[in-house]
Amino acid sequence: MQNTTWVPLFPEQASTFAWQVDALYFYLIAVSIAFTIPIVAAIFFFSLKYREKEKFATPEEMHGSMVLETVWSIIPFVVSMTIFLGGAIVFFNQYTPPDDAMEIYIVGKQWMWKAQHETGQREINDLHIPVGRNVKLTMATEDVIHSFFIPAFRTKADVVPGRYTYLWFNATKPGKYHLFCAEYCGLNHSGMGGWVYVMEQRDFDNWLSGNVSGQTPVEEGRDLFTNKLGCASCHAGGPAQRGAKLENVFNTDVKLVGGGVVKADENYIRNSILNPASQVVEGFQPIMPTFKGQVTEEQLNSLVAYIKSLSPNAAAAASANTAAANKPVAKPAANTAAANKPAAKPAANSNK
Ligand code: CUA
Repeated sequence: MQNTTWVPLFPEQASTFAWQVDALYFYLIAVSIAFTIPIVAAIFFFSLKYREKEKFATPEEMHGSMVLETVWSIIPFVVSMTIFLGGAIVFFNQYTPPDDAMEIYIVGKQWMWKAQHETGQREINDLHIPVGRNVKLTMATEDVIHSFFIPAFRTKADVVPGRYTYLWFNATKPGKYHLFCAEYCGLNHSGMGGWVYVMEQRDFDNWLSGNVSGQTPVEEGRDLFTNKLGCASCHAGGPAQRGAKLENVFNTDVKLVGGGVVKADENYIRNSILNPASQVVEGFQPIMPTFKGQVTEEQLNSLVAYIKSLSPNAAAAASANTAAANKPVAKPAANTAAANKPAAKPAANSNK
């Protein structure tokens, strides 16, 4: 499947924006050629036409030409604006994930790519996706900067420590496409890659059901929240609630102590877990301990997925369904956990 198209050196076009990126690229090449040829021709032409015929000749004076100056200002202006607009449109499109996208969590680490599907399946250095669906990747790294690159999809995004970055695409052809790390990240950088398998929806469903799914991110997140990390001891609803309310908070504006307002997106949730004192919600004390070093990137993804699932209206259609199914279970479990869980762990850490 990894055959090239009619232009050697170019990978196959296998996503909805592949042709846009290529069109823009060919346009840039065409513009470069259109400028290079006349300039080189003019150099030769003038060097022959105006070569020295007589020693110390005085050249004829030129007084400028309005027409000429207007023409050579307007043409480059139009050309550069088409490059700017074309680039801006394609860029905006590529980095604005649609709301109905199917979500996959990606974690980069030296030197592998780990993926987890919403239904729980995990894979390493492989990514199975259905053809013709919008797919959104929420990406984090456990160590240094990596860059997730699928040449056939003409898309790439850096994966940066301390925050989430996103990538989305819609694959147009079933097949097997190279996946690379495109940011030098140490000894085995060149080996950090794998394959993206684009499958017909039916085959994809088969693949999903043929793999051990384990806990879904939402389930794993709920488990961490209520049991393993004890978040529920403060954040579960009820009279004992000391932490900020998390239900229906995703994608809303949150007022902070000090007067700021922040949108409760994935990066906000992540930051609230790792640096809780940096964005304290109005009306609350900065008493939450940090969970930095206690949760892996994958666990963070699960916590974020769980907290998103508490906001069924805001989350994307797909995750909203899971959330609706999970919601009634989550609350009672959280309350029990609140009663059982000793506050020892967070308290011990706040002394650090
Ligand atoms: Cu990871 Cu290069």
